Amino acid sequence: MSSKIVVVGSCMIDFVSYASRLPTAGETIHGDKFVTNFGGKGANQCVAAAKLGADTTLVARVGNDIWGEKYIDNLDSAGVNTEFVLITPNSSSGIAQINVAESGENQIVIVAGANKQLSVSDIEDAKKSISSAEVLIMQLETPPETAIRAMELCTGISILNGAPALSTYDPKLLTLPTIFCINETEASIFTGLPVNNTGDAEKAAIDLVTKGCKSVLITLGEQGAVYHSGDCGCKVLKIESPKVKSLDTTGAGDAFIGALAYFIGAKKVSMEKAIRAACFVAADSVTKLGTQMSFPGPEILKKIDLL
Ligand code: RIB
Ligand code: NA
Repeated sequence: MSSKIVVVGSCMIDFVSYASRLPTAGETIHGDKFVTNFGGKGANQCVAAAKLGADTTLVARVGNDIWGEKYIDNLDSAGVNTEFVLITPNSSSGIAQINVAESGENQIVIVAGANKQLSVSDIEDAKKSISSAEVLIMQLETPPETAIRAMELCTGISILNGAPALSTYDPKLLTLPTIFCINETEASIFTGLPVNNTGDAEKAAIDLVTKGCKSVLITLGEQGAVYHSGDCGCKVLKIESPKVKSLDTTGAGDAFIGALAYFIGAKKVSMEKAIRAACFVAADSVTKLGTQMSFPGPEILKKIDLL
């Protein structure tokens, strides 16, 4: 039996424009391709774990517009348990405007819509599943108080992806999760420190542990990841990512987190091995366009020789 992973988080419809480069402020440029995809960090992370073979449940809200039901169908076909994905009356689905450059880098604006209505009482309704999850994952595209309540109910491992970052927040967001996971930009917002390389990330991780995090994982794209286990005297681990040709980095962080949960929960490997394997999955996802559709299935497990 595979692991029980529960994700409390967002569903977004991604409106993606591909162009040679990203526009600067005030500039209009021609793009060459437009697509709509199923996205949102919560659903992406859940689908990433499901595609690898995990037993997954999503607690989320979609709108009662043309997208809501389609989104639930998409999750069903990925094998995600959608019992706690609710259609929200009088609300539009969350949307994300995404620009992707030829270099693979992106910029994203989200309008949360129905995701904003995910409530503490929705969490209470899913209490049984949340409290029995082996790994619980949350992000910050849905209200922080829902993440806090879910973490309070959690008896397994909790991973809070602090994305998008907040400059003011309840300190419980740092102290409750087993693993506080962010990218370099988010690390800089949460700490006020510059984070451009693994050395900076190490300092930011130490700062976050000092602020009360149990453990901290900072992802740095192609530079890999830095992990601080929080134990006093423990060395910070720097983990390299495989080098690949990047086509679209959108959702790579989500592939990383979903895979991390799968490797910790279903594979029960050490944290270091789980991070290495998750870097491998994330690197694979950037070689293909889109988010969920670019995440690998179980065939990738054969290629990760460290498992
Ligand atoms: O992390 C990538 C995701 O962020 C996209 O799918 C978009 O929906 C935004 O939420
Ligand atoms: Na991709």
